[in-house]
Amino acid sequence: MVRASVFLAAAATASVALAQTNAISCGLDSLCPQSAPCCSQYGQCGVGAYCLGGCDPRSSFSLDSCVPEPVCQSKTFDFSNLDGITSENDYLGDATTTDWVMSGQAVSYQGDSVLLTMPEGSVGTLLASSTYMWYGNVKATFKTSRGAGVVTAFILLSDVKDEIDYEFVGVELTTAQTNYYYQGIPNYTHSTNISLSDTFENFHTYEIDWTPDTVTWLVDGQVGRVLNRKDTWNATANRWAYPQTPARVQLSLWPGGLASNGAGTISWAGGLVDWNSPLMQNGYYYATFDSVTMSCYNASSPPGTNTGVSYTYNNVAGTNDTVIDGDKPTVLKSLLGSGLNMDAGGSSASASGSSQATSPATIPGLSGGSPGSNPDGSVSAANPGSTSSASSSSSSSGSGDGSFSQGGSSSGSGSSSSGSSINQERVLKGSVFAAIVAVVAMMAL
Ligand SMILES: *[C@@H]1O[C@H](CO)[C@@H](O)[C@H](O)[C@H]1NC(C)=O
Ligand SMILES: *[C@@H]1O[C@H](CO)[C@@H](O)[C@H](O)[C@H]1NC(C)=O
Ligand SMILES: *[C@@H]1O[C@H](CO)[C@@H](O)[C@H](O)[C@H]1NC(C)=O
Ligand SMILES: *[C@@H]1O[C@H](CO)[C@@H](O)[C@H](O)[C@H]1NC(C)=O
Ligand SMILES: *[C@@H]1O[C@H](CO)[C@@H](O)[C@H](O)[C@H]1NC(C)=O
Repeated sequence: MVRASVFLAAAATASVALAQTNAISCGLDSLCPQSAPCCSQYGQCGVGAYCLGGCDPRSSFSLDSCVPEPVCQSKTFDFSNLDGITSENDYLGDATTTDWVMSGQAVSYQGDSVLLTMPEGSVGTLLASSTYMWYGNVKATFKTSRGAGVVTAFILLSDVKDEIDYEFVGVELTTAQTNYYYQGIPNYTHSTNISLSDTFENFHTYEIDWTPDTVTWLVDGQVGRVLNRKDTWNATANRWAYPQTPARVQLSLWPGGLASNGAGTISWAGGLVDWNSPLMQNGYYYATFDSVTMSCYNASSPPGTNTGVSYTYNNVAGTNDTVIDGDKPTVLKSLLGSGLNMDAGGSSASASGSSQATSPATIPGLSGGSPGSNPDGSVSAANPGSTSSASSSSSSSGSGDGSFSQGGSSSGSGSSSSGSSINQERVLKGSVFAAIVAVVAMMAL
């Protein structure tokens, strides 16, 4: 309730951008309409990419609106090239051909690592794994970025917003901040720090070992933090407030220090980003990722199995016992599809006809043809003159930069603000980023 009404307030604040794109917001108390059934990671309704990674089944039109989540595959990614990294504009859910789904711009570096870049005017770069881990172990070896307002992150994030984090603020290069969330409910007592040598100068290996009973954060093989499920019991809700659902690995670089962000976020991020900083190279801030290894958990019975093709939810509770490890397909025919109609806009050329004129938003943050939202909340016809994506091969979307928002990641540890204002800010952050992204996309059209 609080979250939903705050979200509306945030949307009103960002009304200029949102009015231009007519995005429909969604949340636990405002599910998406059938015409744009998928609630994206950033709380906006659409089809296509909105229904793939990050789609929250609890806030979508129905539990089966989101496309099923590809199950875990153990694999090491050495980042010696950009193979296996696919722009979210081109990804249809086939995890056998894509390891990472990208928003923003990754650059190959010296044939052995990948730079996540953040040029001025962008909201940085996000790589999200195409498969989901339901417990298991993930290690990432990287150097963070640096500079005021510049945040590097390595997190696990589930579609119902269970989250396990490492976050790095660019003015605190000897601190790794760790955190966790159950279903995105903020609690700023959950943040703790690990001290280490300079994270920009040195590669460190950051590890998350996640079982049904324990989360262990390790840096260079040394335990930095342990969370036990038994310490997370919520007697009011009668459940464990512990991360327990299949999650994607997300690697990101993003600007916490944008003037349009909340004061608490800017302060947490170490101040405003300086876009003329000598710390930038080739016109961007960057973080250097050397490798990632995902090792699936190998339970023989749920929770934590990886025997099927995909994970789905059978109840809006979104707890571990509502996850089904089954055989539903994960691949859309086009970016007009959703879990309700996986074959929409298929190969037939007719997809480019009338459907193009009425297609709802298909790429989060890129506003091609999002449906209008009337004051009464009903959905109106499409945005005329849009350059919507009628097929997977569409390249009409915006430039490579600035196409993701970072609503899923936390901020504000150690802040003295009250819980409710932090809650507000967490929600606000997501929508403000979405608004920025929308403006960037509009300018690119
Ligand atoms: C935050 O988490 C702590 C420890 O898990 C718990 O004791 C506390 O009650 C939580 N606070 C809120 C507001 O949920
Ligand atoms: C899974 O969820 C059920 C229902 O909330 C709970 O009773 C059980 O303890 C959970 N198991 C794990 C491993 O989290
Ligand atoms: C327990 O769960 C309820 C319902 O989700 C929530 O409002 C409350 O903040 C939680 N309490 C703690 C201590 O986490
Ligand atoms: C998988 O199972 C084996 C044997 O029980 C165990 O040694 C290993 O740690 C497990 N792997 C993971 C990622 O849990
Ligand atoms: C973690 O480190 C940051 C930056 O130094 C600091 O602002 C924050 O208060 C610390 N958090 C905790 C829980 O110690």
